[in-house]
This record gives sequence, C-alpha cells and structure tokens, in this order.
Amino acid sequence: MKLLVTGGAGFIGSAFVRLALGTQPGVEVCVLDKLTYAGNLENLEPVAGDPRYRFVRGDICDAETVRRVFEEFQPDAVVHFAAESHVDRSILEPDPVFETNLRGTYTLLEAARARPVGRFLHVSTDEVYGSIEPPAEADEAFPLRPSSPYSASKAGSDLLALSYHTTYGVPVTVTRASNNYGPYQFPEKLIPLMIANALADEPLPVYGDGLHVRDWLYVDDHCRALLALLERGRAGEIYNIGGNCSLPNIEVVRRILAATGKPESLIQHVKDRPGHDRRYALDSAKIRAHTGWRPEVDFETGLAETIRWYQEHEDWVRRVQTGEYRDYYQRNYGGR
Ligand code: NAD
Ligand code: DAU
Repeated sequence: MKLLVTGGAGFIGSAFVRLALGTQPGVEVCVLDKLTYAGNLENLEPVAGDPRYRFVRGDICDAETVRRVFEEFQPDAVVHFAAESHVDRSILEPDPVFETNLRGTYTLLEAARARPVGRFLHVSTDEVYGSIEPPAEADEAFPLRPSSPYSASKAGSDLLALSYHTTYGVPVTVTRASNNYGPYQFPEKLIPLMIANALADEPLPVYGDGLHVRDWLYVDDHCRALLALLERGRAGEIYNIGGNCSLPNIEVVRRILAATGKPESLIQHVKDRPGHDRRYALDSAKIRAHTGWRPEVDFETGLAETIRWYQEHEDWVRRVQTGEYRDYYQRNYGGR
C-alpha cells in the first residue's frame, strides 16, 4: 500500500506517518508538504531513516508539483491532511486558508481524477457543523453551519471532495474529527499553548468565560481511526471521529495547571474569539459500526503523556517559537 500523505510534517499528519510506518509493514509513505510555519521536519525524524519513507517539499496548490508526485510515486491512496488549520489565524488572515484548503484540495482531486487511486481520505473537522445546542450531537447528516473562515473553507472542501466522488467516481471518504491533542502539536492551539505558557510561568489566555466545550481526541486515536477507514471505510461516505470526552476549556486549563504544579493565578480571561462556537459534540456511532474503532486513550492518560512530552522537549518548543510565532502571538493576543 503506497500512501501519499499531504501535510505529513504537521501535527496529525506526522503522527499518522509515524504510526503507519511503525505498525504496518506493507506500507510505503510519500509526504508532500510545503513546510509552512506549522510544518516541521523534526516531527518526522523518527522515520527519517526508514527506506519506506520519502519526503517531497511542495505546495498542494501547484498542479505541476502534484502531477509529478502522482506520476513518480503512483500512490494507492491519498491521505489529505495539508491545510491551514488554526481558527485564530484564519480570522486574522483568511487568504492562505482559502487558497490551501480549497484550491489545494481541488488540485489534489484533479490529480486523483487524472491518475486514479484506490482511496482519497479527506481529513476534515467537526467544526463544519458549527456550534451545537445541548443535548444534541451531530451525526454525519447534521446541517453544515461553519462559523469561521477556517471551518467554512473545510466545509467547502468537504463538499468539493464529495462532488468528485459523485461526478467522477473518485473514491473519496470524508472524515470529521473533534479536537486533537498530543505530542508535537504547534503551541498555538489550546492544550500545547497552555502547557508551554504554564511551563514558562507566562499568563494562560482563556477566551471569554472559558465555558466553551470541546470534545478531546488523542492524536493516535484519530490516526488509528484513519487507518481503520483506509481498510474498511466506504467511498462516498462521511465518518465522524469523536473523542467521547467533552470538557469546558477552563476545566482543561485547570487540569494543566494542576499537573504542572502551577498556580491558577496564571489564568487570564481575555476578550473572546469573534464567532466563537460554544459547543462541539459528535455522534460517532457510524465509524464504530463500520470499523469497530473506538478511542483507546482516556483524557487523563493522554494529557499526562502530552505534558510529559512538552516537559522533555522544551528545545522543540523553543525552536518553533520563532520570530514569526512571536509576531503572531502579539497580533492575536496583544490587543486582548
Ligand atoms: P497543522 O497545522 O499542524 O499541519 C498542517 C500541515 O500542512 C503542515 O505540515 C503544513 O506545512 C502543511 N501545509 C499547509 N499548507 C500547505 C500547502 N499549501 N501545501 C502543502 N502542505 C501544506 O495541522 P493539523 O492540526 O495536523 O491538522 C491536519 C488536518 O486535520 C487539517 O486538515 C485539519 O483541518 C484537520 N483536523 C485537525 C484537527 C485538530 O484538532 N488539529 C481536528 C480535526 C481535523
Ligand atoms: O474541532 C476540531 C478543530 O479543533 C480543528 O478542526 C482545528 O484544526 C483545531 O485548531 C481545533 O479548533 P479549535 O478552535 O477548537 O481549537 P483551539 O485549540 O484553537 O481552541 C480550543 C478552544 O480553546 C476554543 O474554544 C478556543 C479556546 N482557546 C484557544 C486558544 C488558542 C482559548 O480560550 N485561548 C486560546 O489562547
């Protein structure tokens, strides 16, 4: 099985590559990644010496690059992670979000139409459903009500991908996962940002009242779900992948402070994110029924593992907190 993994140098993509090569002897992987601020070859160091792995630096929006990779690697399946993935950045600067998430996905779908693959796994998000009133949970037929430029671009790319199945028979499967956490996550997202700031005795900026609810999924559980869907998922279908662990943000932040031995006085409530979705909640019965997958890592274990990783990789954190990061941090948090 030859897997073309786009965005494989990012957080989830690199976890997927490490897991696929670590557990599937018959797998070969080609990563196609532009190495934006979020892409980091250090994330792939554990597999760098594996003869079944190769890396191509390139932009998924560049049709010639994508065509060449398809021709040279001849993938059996595409696992499409590459995206601008951060909601706050999408609010500050929507342009690259629509370019990569829509044009990039379109470019890959066109390549898969020209040179057929066995499966096109389009990795998407629960954010496409928008905020969900309790006690409802979104199943795969739930209406799409994206709130941010990021989630609107993902909803658009989901529909684009499904249209290529309906119209051209490209064997697309769309996955919609909840909030991932774990090692190697760029410290702009809630959990790694709060861990990094706590370890540095910096303020922990909680948006609004902190009662927004997210469903936390350990990254390896997400990747196991994707491997299961590559084997047993159906073309033309959408699968929700939830962590079955709903928590308000403030509770997550308190647990991080308790685990790192830092005081709650570090918490700083700041101006809310515009268009901030109050609650995400997924019904994941379908993937359980079709593949038998379920999350294996509970939040307590996953969070402890994640905090340990950041404590042991302070050098990794320091290296990704570049001038670009400090500039972003100032733009996003400076006026709050
Ligand atoms: P990430 O930001 O950590 O990584 C994105 C990767 O894509 C980076 O390696 C980056 O260099 C690459 N990339 C960006 N633009 C590119 C382009 N034009 N061409 C080639 N490569 C490009 O993202 P992540 O958190 O690992 O998310 C991966 C995917 O999973 C995204 O599609 C995201 O929408 C989806 N998702 C994320 C979560 C989450 O909680 N992080 C949850 C559900 C779904
Ligand atoms: O739900 C899946 C989505 O989860 C993915 O599709 C996205 O790629 C991923 O970024 C994530 O989006 P969120 O917006 O939910 O994640 P984020 O980590 O940015 O924020 C989680 C919650 O924490 C959200 O309610 C906003 C809040 N938050 C976030 C940051 C960065 C804060 O209160 N303070 C912060 O500084």
